[in-house]
Amino acid sequence: MHSNGLFHFSGGSHGKWKVLRMQTVTGASLEMVERLDVIAGPLEGSPPGSRWLLRGIVSNERYITRVERAKLEAIQQCVGRPEATCAALIPIRKNSTWWSLAQDERRTIFEERSHHIEIGSKYLPPVARRLHHSRDLGEPFDFLTWFEYAPTCSQKFEELVSELRKTEEWKFIDREIDIRLIRDDA
Ligand code: HEM
Repeated sequence: MHSNGLFHFSGGSHGKWKVLRMQTVTGASLEMVERLDVIAGPLEGSPPGSRWLLRGIVSNERYITRVERAKLEAIQQCVGRPEATCAALIPIRKNSTWWSLAQDERRTIFEERSHHIEIGSKYLPPVARRLHHSRDLGEPFDFLTWFEYAPTCSQKFEELVSELRKTEEWKFIDREIDIRLIRDDA
C-alpha cells in the first residue's frame, strides 16, 4: 500500500528496532520502552504492545535552496541500507517564538546563522536521514527526525548531534528526546 508519506513510530514491546537508550534532552520525557516499530501508511487501532504512538508525514521541504538540495542529492543515501543497523529517532518541538517568526527569519537562523545543512552535509553519505512533519497533525512534537547509520559511524553521529545542539536554532527547541536503536530482526 502507498503510505502517502505517513509514518507511525510505535514505542513498546514490539518492532524490529531494539532501544539502546532514551535520553530526554529538553522538556518533558517520554515513557521508556524496549522496542520501536516503524509503520508506513495509515493504521487502524493501536499496534500490539504499543505504549506510545507518534505520527509524522514526509512533506515538502521548507528551507533548502536549489543549490543546497542538488549538493545533498548527489551524496545522500536512502534509509533501509542493510549495513545501517543503527538508528536514531529524535522527536523535536520548537517553541512559540520560532513559529511566530516569518519564513525568511527562520531560514536565516536555520542556515545562515546555524549552518544546519552545512554541518549535516559533513556527515553524508554515512548517515541517511528522513524528516517527518508532525505539527499540523496536532501531535506532541513538531518533527520526527530519523537517521540510520552503520555501527562504525556511531561516534561520528554523536559529533553531529552535539554540533547541532550548540547552534542558535537549538535555542528554539523546547522538547527533544534522543532515542537510539539497533536493528535485531535477524
Ligand atoms: C545527517 C545530517 C543532516 C542533514 C544533511 C540535515 C539536513 C536537513 C535539511 C536540508 C533540512 C531542511 C529541510 C527543509 O528545507 O525543510 C533539515 C531540517 C531539520 N533537521 Fe536536519 N539534517 C541533518 C541532521 C539532523 C539531526 C542530527 C537532527 C536532530 C538532532 C536534525 C533535525 C532537523 C529538524 C528538526 C529539521 C526541521 C527544522 C524546521 O523545519 O524547523 N537534522 N535537516
